[in-house]
Amino acid sequence: MNSPATLSPRDDACTLTSTQAINEAMTRIQARLDEQREFLRDRLSRLYGHRPDFRDWFERLLAHVVDLAARRPDELRQLDEQRLAHPGWHLGPNMLAYTAYADKFANGLKGVEGQVPLLKELGVTYLHLLPFLKARSGESDGGFAVASFEEIEPRLGTMRDLEALAATLRHAGISLCSDFVLNHVADDHPWAVAARQGDPHYRGFFHVFADEADAARHELHLTQVFPQTAPGNFTHVDDMGGHVWTTFYPYQWDLNYANPHVFESIVLALLRLANRGIDAFRLDSTAYLWKREGTRCMNEPEVHWILQALRSIVQIAAPAVLLKAEAIVPTSELPPYFGEGDARGRECHLAYHSSLMSASWLALAEQRATVLRGVVRDTPALPEGGSWITYVRCHDDIGWGVLKPELRILGEPEYRLLYASQFFAGRIEGSYSAGAPFQAHVEAGVHGTNGMAAALVGLARAGTPEEETDAIRRLLMLYALTFTFGGIPLIYMGDEVGLGNADDEAVRSGVDGRELHRPRFSEAAWLRRHVSGTREHKVFAGLCELIALRRVTPALAADVPTSVLDVADAAILAIRRGEDFVGLSNFSQRSVTLDLSAHIGDATWVDLVDGTRVDMGAVQLPPWGFTWLSKGP
Ligand code: GLC
Repeated sequence: MNSPATLSPRDDACTLTSTQAINEAMTRIQARLDEQREFLRDRLSRLYGHRPDFRDWFERLLAHVVDLAARRPDELRQLDEQRLAHPGWHLGPNMLAYTAYADKFANGLKGVEGQVPLLKELGVTYLHLLPFLKARSGESDGGFAVASFEEIEPRLGTMRDLEALAATLRHAGISLCSDFVLNHVADDHPWAVAARQGDPHYRGFFHVFADEADAARHELHLTQVFPQTAPGNFTHVDDMGGHVWTTFYPYQWDLNYANPHVFESIVLALLRLANRGIDAFRLDSTAYLWKREGTRCMNEPEVHWILQALRSIVQIAAPAVLLKAEAIVPTSELPPYFGEGDARGRECHLAYHSSLMSASWLALAEQRATVLRGVVRDTPALPEGGSWITYVRCHDDIGWGVLKPELRILGEPEYRLLYASQFFAGRIEGSYSAGAPFQAHVEAGVHGTNGMAAALVGLARAGTPEEETDAIRRLLMLYALTFTFGGIPLIYMGDEVGLGNADDEAVRSGVDGRELHRPRFSEAAWLRRHVSGTREHKVFAGLCELIALRRVTPALAADVPTSVLDVADAAILAIRRGEDFVGLSNFSQRSVTLDLSAHIGDATWVDLVDGTRVDMGAVQLPPWGFTWLSKGP
């Protein structure tokens, strides 16, 4: 007898033309299913195996997965095959990511198609568009309160626009990454609406405590993401007759993954989007997926089983797709997101390295790279196929909390973070920054920092040519580090031309301080990238030079080992990639001369930027400068 998840060719299954092609596709799906079945069963039975209906549920789930696999359009199926044949396709030094809001970048999805020449000019191969699915009406946390996984936010376009955009990008060699907000849904998502109306099936999709004491008991152990604007992790909702778990804003209701129907609904929604042509998913707030009383409810083992099961399903139904973990957690808690033990390399392909990002800003504020070195040293080699997303800025604040464990390891006080936070707010004597603190409960508290990179490095406030030069050096040095470390570097929209902070109604309304670094794309600034003498030109040309150089430097591929050289000057970060490459960053305002001979041996090294031979006994770095060195012939 056929189990529900055994394949048979279907007439309406896909757009393949010949029966032979259909049969071949089905055979391949079946082979992938066979390959994954036991692992997937294991992970899901850890989560849901205690339920009497587990077997039936599991088979039904597989049947849905297979059905969606069979419906995958031809072109995506071909992509699946290509990427399966070259599983390291996303690790090369050609990979470059760009991230933007569709509306701020181009007035919506159709407009983004019009920006493909810009992306090509930069050499972008991966575009992360911030949330574009239908958002909650009213406040929506920048679209992170999703009201439907099946519809596009009407302001931004339609599903047809999304498919067209995905195809255009694909043909231009650019992967489209979408946010996939799987920890919570908006309080006006149909699941939440049904739950409010008393539907027990959907009520089970959420965590609700009728008794306030239960919520309070959990709260004791939890951290707060938005302590100032959304304190606490629970929201009393009259219609629900209790306290709903809301880690983020009160209108973002956490999903209850102890309920297998939640897992199933989420997975199938993701596969449907994958079939529209999205080929990477940024899995939002992954650390919070599983709740366990008495814990912080972050990074629980079940989170990883959920993600491993998700990866396994993607491997069956849409193997071209990349999964990227957004887990803003300290360095030591990140490696599990790539999969460990028998699941090594079987979880997410990518993860943000937020500690590296925050530590590089701390190094800039303090003019010393000690914490940053610690972060690099504590970053383990990734499993095959794994890669970091390295970045200078993104749509969120620079979170300082991830560095607390690093400071503890170094025996350093936490007030160093407060110093950085005050520095970037321009509150320290000599600071050049025009940022702002984010969510600090009290004036002297530390949580995050907002601001565009250009504003934080001093470009916005630069009044003299010297100040401008210094600010641009700082910006390029930070980007050079993201290009050097190993992974996919991400450019945040506007940084390519040194765009400053937003100055609009969203900022003035003060609803969410992160709006400060969510400006609209500036056509005028973009046009100035080719006008020599302008700051836009200086930033753009500097960045493009690095991008071009990186692309032809095999040592900068994601899978080449990264290590840190223990050089004497604390202002310097010296990163070695494999045997042939060393990247140096000077976080201080001093010119530095470094003796690297003890670290490097007596080979000949050249400066990659200008091709000149370098005396490794006396390597020169200008203030806030960087150097890329390569072993010579
Ligand atoms: C992620 C997003 C952030 C959002 C939060 C809640 O951290 O990056 O912008 O507020 O999730 O969805």
